[in-house]
Amino acid sequence: DAADKGNYEHFMMKEIQEQPQAIGMLLGHYLQEEGKEDMQKLRELLSTCSRLHIVACGSAYHAGMTGKYLIENLAGVAVEVELASEFRYRRPVLNEGEVVLVISQSGETADTVAALREAKVRGCRTMAIVNAQGSTIARESDLVLYTYAGPEISVATTKGYSTQLVVLDLIAVELASLKERITDAEKNKLHGELMQIPAKIRQILEHKEKLQRAANECAGKKQVFFIGRSLDYTLALEAALKLKEISYIHAEAYAAGELKHGTIALIEQDSLVVAIETQQELYDKIHSNIVEVQSRGAKIFAVGFEAAKKEKETLELEYRIPEIQPFFAPSLAIIPFQLFAYYISVAKGIDVDKPRNLAKSVTVE
Ligand code: G6P
Repeated sequence: DAADKGNYEHFMMKEIQEQPQAIGMLLGHYLQEEGKEDMQKLRELLSTCSRLHIVACGSAYHAGMTGKYLIENLAGVAVEVELASEFRYRRPVLNEGEVVLVISQSGETADTVAALREAKVRGCRTMAIVNAQGSTIARESDLVLYTYAGPEISVATTKGYSTQLVVLDLIAVELASLKERITDAEKNKLHGELMQIPAKIRQILEHKEKLQRAANECAGKKQVFFIGRSLDYTLALEAALKLKEISYIHAEAYAAGELKHGTIALIEQDSLVVAIETQQELYDKIHSNIVEVQSRGAKIFAVGFEAAKKEKETLELEYRIPEIQPFFAPSLAIIPFQLFAYYISVAKGIDVDKPRNLAKSVTVE
């Protein structure tokens, strides 16, 4: 029974642990016979798409940011990402041939539903990445790609978000092949990399005690700065939100290159800076940001690939994720942050599954 915690103390931990299976099922669906029709419909919808607008709220918006970086990089298709609450009221420019993609775990978020309806009124073709089958957004979109994550009970999303990421990965690869930016062999190779995600998440979950230790060391912090570049920045947005939601620690994500433009003024002795490092071409850049904040007294918690580690670097805390094609690193890098936030929440005695003031689905404005 999905609404049963089983042996877990909280739904959030149960749902964190369900991610390898959920992602495995979703890949099984889309990469095999039963998902062929969805992929064909996707190709038809996107074949004349000149620009994609991704619209969502909360974590789904963060998944959309990652989707933008991936789709632009892999497929060369222009993508705008926007918060549904802004999109619905500001009359964005929507041209013929553009597609609006909404992302929503529940399929019922009021602003996202309204944004979808606005897109339809404005004559756009629409598609949705949704978890809840038969939900309003699923019913009203021209094409639905389900995430097949199963019911998510914990208010802070985990498997809902990580399955959205994988559907976006599949869209990026499909679009890249449609636009002839990759060969069939390259497409198969990327699919092969995606298939490794479940086992690699399992490896991370086997070492969760390391994150519990990191969490215990950081539970007393009043604020945490998350920095990253490119896909690591988009992941930082979600990592910071997870921490805020369930630990009540003030956390913000910054594009590391923006630190100098104001935020570095906040860094002082013992400030905690979480640095994400999975994008090889940017290792040098993120390292200089680490040095900049360290020289102002910050403590670093680095999360990324082993290969990102610099010789003789001093890091107070670090967590190394298994190697994977860097496009798909966010799917692995989010796991330590879900656990980190979870353990801080538990250490502080917070109601992990039902943090104060938050709702699972914001169905009224
Ligand atoms: C709420 C939840 C978030 C979620 C957001 C969007 O704020 O607490 O976890 O990301 O709504 O929800 P949706 O169901 O549209 O993905």
